[in-house]
Amino acid sequence: MKGESFTIAESQVTREPPQVATVPDKKISYVRRLFSEGPGEYDFLLKVLSLGRDNYWRDCMREKANLKPNSSVLDIACGTGLVTYTFARKEKAYVVGVDVTSEMLQQAISLGSYKNSDVDFVLARAEDLPFRDECFDASTISLALRNVSSQVETLSEMKRCTKRGSEVMTLDFARPKGKLFSPFYNFYIFKLLPSIGRLISRHWKTIFLYLANSIQKSRDPERIKETMDSIGLADTEIKRLTHGTTALVSGRK
Ligand SMILES: C[S@@+](CC[C@H](N)C(=O)[O-])C[C@H]1O[C@@H](n2cnc3c(N)ncnc32)[C@H](O)[C@@H]1O
Repeated sequence: MKGESFTIAESQVTREPPQVATVPDKKISYVRRLFSEGPGEYDFLLKVLSLGRDNYWRDCMREKANLKPNSSVLDIACGTGLVTYTFARKEKAYVVGVDVTSEMLQQAISLGSYKNSDVDFVLARAEDLPFRDECFDASTISLALRNVSSQVETLSEMKRCTKRGSEVMTLDFARPKGKLFSPFYNFYIFKLLPSIGRLISRHWKTIFLYLANSIQKSRDPERIKETMDSIGLADTEIKRLTHGTTALVSGRK
């Protein structure tokens, strides 16, 4: 499984070639433009943005997945592979990272850990996964459900590829509810972060403004849980993290 190629060679998980280039999808074109310019700074800026809490968030996903040794994990919208490598290293799992932006995948591969981890990266749309039914022991999408073109199709595809009894999980930013904390949070995401982004580049200011607006417009964790219920996931639950600024929503197939 370890190697230089973008797509996995093992045929027991692959279904058919992804349709990335042929599907007309305006949101994907926008998302690709947005994420193709700054993959080198992504990990550092996520640290700044999360005030160093992002490792903890990923560990909560690992805990929820409750994997046995030699498990396989599907990491949707993997970006630079932060979740992919976390599961590969800490759980010793085989992890397939999927993303629609090749520059993010290139960055994931360029990190030295690619050669020492049991991971593969696949260029594909979250809404149309090139994997067979029920071949992963858990599936994750982190900080990206807001970005995909169809949340229902994405979660349904994740469910399809996940084995029975296994967890489908989404971790994403959320709007905190506390009256005291909310004004501070809004100042942080709408004013402070774009200013920090501007210090790096105009592009990162745009990304941070996109992030702030997409969080404001995003579905509440309760709605995501409802969507999970509607596609037939069981025991769905919400775990709010870091003063409700992030939520882990999960359901079992
Ligand atoms: C904010 S990054 C998240 C990266 C990573 N999951 C993390 O936790 O750091 C969002 C990623 O979602 C990817 N993405 C957005 N829409 C997608 C789609 N429809 N299919 C696959 N990937 C998508 C983008 O290319 C980008 O790499």
